[in-house]
Amino acid sequence: MNLSAEQIQANWEIFLDNIKVHIPGNRGECLTNFYKRYEERIILMPAAHKKEYHGAFPGGYVAHVNKVVEGSLRLYDMWEEMGCDMTTFTKEELVFSAINHDLGKMGDKDHDAYIPQTDQWRKDKLGEDYMFNKKLAFAAVPDRGLFLLQQHDISYSFNEMLAIQTHDGLYDTANEKYLKGYMPEQKPRTSLPFILHQADMMAARIEFEIEWLPKFSQNSVDAPKKNYTLNGNIKSSKSKALNKISSPGLKNMLDSL
Ligand SMILES: [Fe+2]
Repeated sequence: MNLSAEQIQANWEIFLDNIKVHIPGNRGECLTNFYKRYEERIILMPAAHKKEYHGAFPGGYVAHVNKVVEGSLRLYDMWEEMGCDMTTFTKEELVFSAINHDLGKMGDKDHDAYIPQTDQWRKDKLGEDYMFNKKLAFAAVPDRGLFLLQQHDISYSFNEMLAIQTHDGLYDTANEKYLKGYMPEQKPRTSLPFILHQADMMAARIEFEIEWLPKFSQNSVDAPKKNYTLNGNIKSSKSKALNKISSPGLKNMLDSL
């Protein structure tokens, strides 16, 4: 998969705009400041470390999050039309949860979670262009995301906590305690977590189709990794997105892909 520098920049502007439009007041400002502070890292983050997963390329994270926000808003309308009780959560809570649902993929305030793979065999044979950063203590993605928010004084509601925590639905067995309760009183009191999970699943599935189905039809699933022409595109582009990058580590990362 291949995003041009212009696409990466445009996606980043949509990302910031979603905060501006949907998260009002002081919380919106805090969130914007948070993302601008880590802009260099987030703008080029992949959404996964392994190319078989969705969005495992520079800019893949922001592209994925934007798709989840858009899907969440469309699903909001559909759930409402289908008779869902929309008084149990707000649209702001839905968008806030969508924007931050995968934030834990960033790592912590000092370390990226995904760094360029140094093992050539794993790159070639397993398609791992990135690897987990061992400097980072282990935490599940939702836990790390929620920790980052509170660490930067960005408040979240109980609904948002629950939605971010369970966004992987029952793909993550840790969510069974919230999503597999048979007693009515143990079920979520709002449909927000289900809408977010549905939007996330839809985005990931569509990203899979865009990235992989053309390769299947050409029988070229094992195409050489250098089909990732991002490096070339990035180097040749004069876009604002990449001109903003001053971090030597990040430039190094792009060179390594
Ligand atoms: Fe996601």
